[in-house]
Amino acid sequence: MNIKLAKYAGFCMGVRRAITLCMNTLKQNKKPLYSFGPIIHNNVVIQELSNHGVKIIEKVDDLKSGDYVIIRSHGISPVLRKELKEKGVIIFDATCPKVARVQSIIKKNVADGLFVVIIGDKGHAETKALISYAEGSGIVISNEEELRDFIKKDIDKQICVVAQTTQEIELFEKFCKILKNKFPNLIIVNTICDATRRRQFEVVEKAGKSDLVFVVGGKHSANTTRLYEISKNLCDKTYHIEKTEEVDLNKINKKDRVFITAGASTPLWAMYDVASKVKEKVFLGKIKSLLGSKTFLVFSFIFSSVISFLIKGSAFYIFSLFFGLFLTSSSLSLYNLKNLDIFKFNSSSSLLRFVLGIILLIFLTLFYNIGILFLVFYFLFVFYLISKNLISKRQIKFFFVISYYLAILIA
Ligand code: F3S
Repeated sequence: MNIKLAKYAGFCMGVRRAITLCMNTLKQNKKPLYSFGPIIHNNVVIQELSNHGVKIIEKVDDLKSGDYVIIRSHGISPVLRKELKEKGVIIFDATCPKVARVQSIIKKNVADGLFVVIIGDKGHAETKALISYAEGSGIVISNEEELRDFIKKDIDKQICVVAQTTQEIELFEKFCKILKNKFPNLIIVNTICDATRRRQFEVVEKAGKSDLVFVVGGKHSANTTRLYEISKNLCDKTYHIEKTEEVDLNKINKKDRVFITAGASTPLWAMYDVASKVKEKVFLGKIKSLLGSKTFLVFSFIFSSVISFLIKGSAFYIFSLFFGLFLTSSSLSLYNLKNLDIFKFNSSSSLLRFVLGIILLIFLTLFYNIGILFLVFYFLFVFYLISKNLISKRQIKFFFVISYYLAILIA
């Protein structure tokens, strides 16, 4: 089996920014944080945020003066912003800068007397907010039928076309071409964001060469759904899944070329989880998943500790040393805080691995070799660097290679 993971995956800048703002606000203020609708369209992340204290509300009346409110990455209308200010709530603005840019483009063009056409999904939160900036001098076009109806109309103003930031590139270009034929002095501003473009280009490049594609992400996520649609056109066996449990191994053949991609609001670890599940189809993958199970880790820890204590043979000592290293480094290398996989980092099972690994190394320090204490401090130092978001994923790998050399030297 050949499994390829998307190069462009993990949270996009806007999503990462919104989640960071939520987490920092919650950490600093110990107060619930309210949001109008989900901050991003990913149920796994929304559930985690809700566990941390983010509450979703639907109307301003649900708030009282002094409450903390986060504006989601999709943005809100100027009317709603005004209502919030009048209510006296404290606003934390997580509107993605790319979305804010489209809002100001619309505002400026409408102020200059133009009529704005937004190519996007009518019911989507971002589009609903965008159209409100047009103050009646704009329209959202979602499909060809609406486009046909629109070009029948006589518009006495110059037209400016923009896109929902997560729009499909090909569809936007096609609609612009049709509009240009009818309105030759049209202004086109392609506002599809880079995160969307890169992911779409990659799917176009890889899906056609794959036997099976998994698109991981929220079922309501606009950008994930578009990736799915693009891929489905190129590879019939394309599946949009939100959770690893949705992977049906019966649909995969052992010789399949599998491509796995993810939406901009999907945590990176969700894609890796899907990849591990797919690998279970092959023998080595099955073994790996067994080795990666919590039961195995706890059992091995107890087994290696007890045996190392009872029989002070070098083989057991080395086994325990490397098992400790494995626990510690595998737990840390799962995280890439650059992509804000903060929830996984906080998850008890991953943290448990790290703590068990450190305990094992301390145990070895006490009973066998004081030099291992150095490794303990080394790992705690790397843990600190990761938790402060000071090193990249590549550097993390480098640190772990060094740690294994150090272990060999110490052993
Ligand atoms: Fe922003 Fe694009 Fe992400 S608009 S929220 S960077 S998908």
